[in-house]
Amino acid sequence: PQTVTRDDEGRLTVGGLDVVGIAREFGTAAYVLDEEDFRARARAFRDDFAEPFAGLGGVDVYYAGKAFLCTEVARWVADEGLCLDVCSGGELAVAQRAGFPAQRIGLHGNNKSVAEIRQALAYGVGRIVVDSFEEIERIAAVAAELGVRAPVMVRVTVGVEAHTHEFIATAHEDQKFGFSLAGGRAAEAVARILEHADTLELLGLHSHIGSQIFDTSGFEVSARRLIGLHADVARVHGVHMPELDLGGGYGIAYTSEHEPLSPRRLGEQMADLVTRELKAVGDGGPGTPAPKVSIEPGRAIAGPSTFTLYEVGTVKDVDLGGGAKRTYVSVDGGMSDNIRTALYDADYSCTLASRRSEGAPRLARVVGKHCESGDIVVMDEYLPDDVTAGDLLAVPGTGAYCRSMASQYNHTPRPPVVAVRDGKARVIVRRETVEDLLALDVG
Ligand code: LLP
Repeated sequence: PQTVTRDDEGRLTVGGLDVVGIAREFGTAAYVLDEEDFRARARAFRDDFAEPFAGLGGVDVYYAGKAFLCTEVARWVADEGLCLDVCSGGELAVAQRAGFPAQRIGLHGNNKSVAEIRQALAYGVGRIVVDSFEEIERIAAVAAELGVRAPVMVRVTVGVEAHTHEFIATAHEDQKFGFSLAGGRAAEAVARILEHADTLELLGLHSHIGSQIFDTSGFEVSARRLIGLHADVARVHGVHMPELDLGGGYGIAYTSEHEPLSPRRLGEQMADLVTRELKAVGDGGPGTPAPKVSIEPGRAIAGPSTFTLYEVGTVKDVDLGGGAKRTYVSVDGGMSDNIRTALYDADYSCTLASRRSEGAPRLARVVGKHCESGDIVVMDEYLPDDVTAGDLLAVPGTGAYCRSMASQYNHTPRPPVVAVRDGKARVIVRRETVEDLLALDVG
């Protein structure tokens, strides 16, 4: 985060507070969230990313709540003027609790229940991204029941899948989301929606090509394909859809190997590629307004805002044979608060946070307290060789997909989220307790 530094004692500080005090007050493991960092990133997408689109139809930024959502965060997102992408009735309930403006909410999901559709339409969300033919009928039926016209977008499988710096075109039709372009399904979905004009309002097309992406070439292919369909729909049906959603996926630096583009550079590149593709099909030309573009960054806003604070419990040297050794540093959390290392081989780093050390760097593996050997938080990190029980470690970049994917494995209560701002810390998600867990047991 932006406001993380070291004080004179070598203690990590965030938002003017040192981690030793934070750990004393809130315990460990804890997610420590720098509120100003989160807000600044949200604003950077709203302003810097959006600026190059001024000559086009503008940009709406939907923060993807799946990265991390709680009532306070929903309020910050609303405050900063962003829209919100939710993908379940539960995420929508958080938005409702926060009083998030309904018009600025989009609902996703490949298998929304009738109850979720009803919850969304009754609240008056600004759009529902449609994912299947069954769902078109379901949304139309619920809209009729409620006497509303449901604003919808069509999720298009553009045949592009991108992760990190690579992308693969055409090979990724074989997945569960959306309507494929290849089989003409997306065009069929558009036609079906237009037949339901009394209950469904077609806003536009949507795509999402992946996550943790560092270059925009995959977006160029997806934009080309979406814009091609956009132009076909105008030709065939005489309907000019007002919106084009290119999804989320912008990468962040988990380690020094990653070099993410700034929101401004991303905005410039995305605006350029959308302009090029619109020109190529003669869409958005004189007389036809360019569609408004929307994006759905989750990780790029939430990820860097947070570090996880752990206390070291044990330090163990293991002989690997041939004189080689590995040091295992066990912390008071693990795969229950960060499943990403085990699930995706994700790279994290780690730093001694509670003091200065003159110790020599020693290669360590930071592991959790759970009952399996895959319970690894940081695969390889050089930590001072005097790291010992009672030291605090910080793992940065845990603001996205860590708390939101946390579990209570081994009946481990999930850590709190502590938000820090202007020298003050407050709990925005409280620590779970064993009583919380036991409360679910019946009998
Ligand atoms: N929009 C849609 C339709 C999505 O499916 C996603 C993420 C996003 C936006 C936000 O993507 P972001 O900007 O955060 O990359 N659990 C995985 C990531 C799964 C992402 C799923 N969809 C992880 O921990 O890396």
